[in-house]
Amino acid sequence: MSKGFVSIVLALATGLLQLANAEVPAIFILGDSTADVGTNNYLPDSNITANYPHNGVDFPFGRETGRFSNGLNTADFLARLFGFKRSPLSFLAFNGTYGIKKRQSETEEFLSKSLFFISVGSNDIMGNYHSNYPIPKEQFIPKLAVVYEKHLRNLISVGARRFGIIGVPPVGCCPSQRLSANGECVKDLNDQAEAFFSTMDTLMRNLNFIDVKNACCGNGTLKAESFCTPSAKLCSNCHQYLFWDLFHPAQAASKMVAFKVYSGEPEYVTPINFSQLADAY
Ligand SMILES: *[C@@H]1O[C@H](CO)[C@@H](O)[C@H](O)[C@H]1NC(C)=O
Ligand SMILES: *[C@@H]1O[C@H](CO)[C@@H](O)[C@H](O)[C@H]1NC(C)=O
Ligand SMILES: *[C@@H]1O[C@H](CO)[C@@H](O)[C@H](O)[C@H]1NC(C)=O
Ligand SMILES: *[C@@H]1O[C@H](CO)[C@@H](O)[C@H](O)[C@H]1NC(C)=O
Repeated sequence: MSKGFVSIVLALATGLLQLANAEVPAIFILGDSTADVGTNNYLPDSNITANYPHNGVDFPFGRETGRFSNGLNTADFLARLFGFKRSPLSFLAFNGTYGIKKRQSETEEFLSKSLFFISVGSNDIMGNYHSNYPIPKEQFIPKLAVVYEKHLRNLISVGARRFGIIGVPPVGCCPSQRLSANGECVKDLNDQAEAFFSTMDTLMRNLNFIDVKNACCGNGTLKAESFCTPSAKLCSNCHQYLFWDLFHPAQAASKMVAFKVYSGEPEYVTPINFSQLADAY
């Protein structure tokens, strides 16, 4: 019963290219059927699609677009909120070739400014719940988080920096799940969705500054036993460090401080901030 609902569209990507938008050059939407804008139709191994009536009855041009919806979905609305004028009708499956088209540094820059929305988890939770041998939630949710973290770190390693992680909604209240529960919500599924949220919350907080202890460049314990000289060891990704060397903050931390000083609230800068100071003359 759940199988029909569970459409497995893992790692779908929708690149909404609008290079004119310098701040956010692209939004990548990685998700399951709730975020699919029709990419599914073009995947050779995909056999769960929605490109037929009555899907899309309320779509602006009455087309069946491949969305599991009467009209638009969250991916569409997010794209609009971020100023992308077109719906993600044109999409490209993110298959790694994008990086080859541009030089690596340009690609990293592009990816670091892009937004990555990830909307997965429902299928995993429901799939496990309905399997013949479900893994208890106390073990399953942490397992899920480990896999999730691995994928996030992969994205970080190619340059992604801005993530929007969509939690799992109370899937126990989906019609498909209520069907087997006399019309009631399945509490256990909703509990798992909540547990997933708090696990991801902790994970994301820890990913923000991956290393707040060690210097990026230096030698010895905490890389704090020598200055950053040509012979010192250099971390592979400075963006993940709070400290550059044994004394000084790395760029990301300095940027944060500058922004706070320039336009921060009184808790960071008092009695007025630097932008107000500039305005005073
Ligand atoms: C989709 O394909 C897989 C194997 O490729 C098959 O096991 C499954 O039953 C198919 N699902 C549907 C809904 O056709
Ligand atoms: C990736 O996309 C490019 C451009 O559309 C295409 O030529 C190539 O065959 C694709 N590669 C794979 C592995 O799907
Ligand atoms: C750092 O350690 C390496 C050996 O791991 C050594 O060759 C180098 O001279 C050291 N540099 C400093 C500045 O201590
Ligand atoms: C700090 O600067 C910003 C930008 O100029 C300004 O809008 C804001 O009101 C200031 N914040 C405070 C708390 O004064």
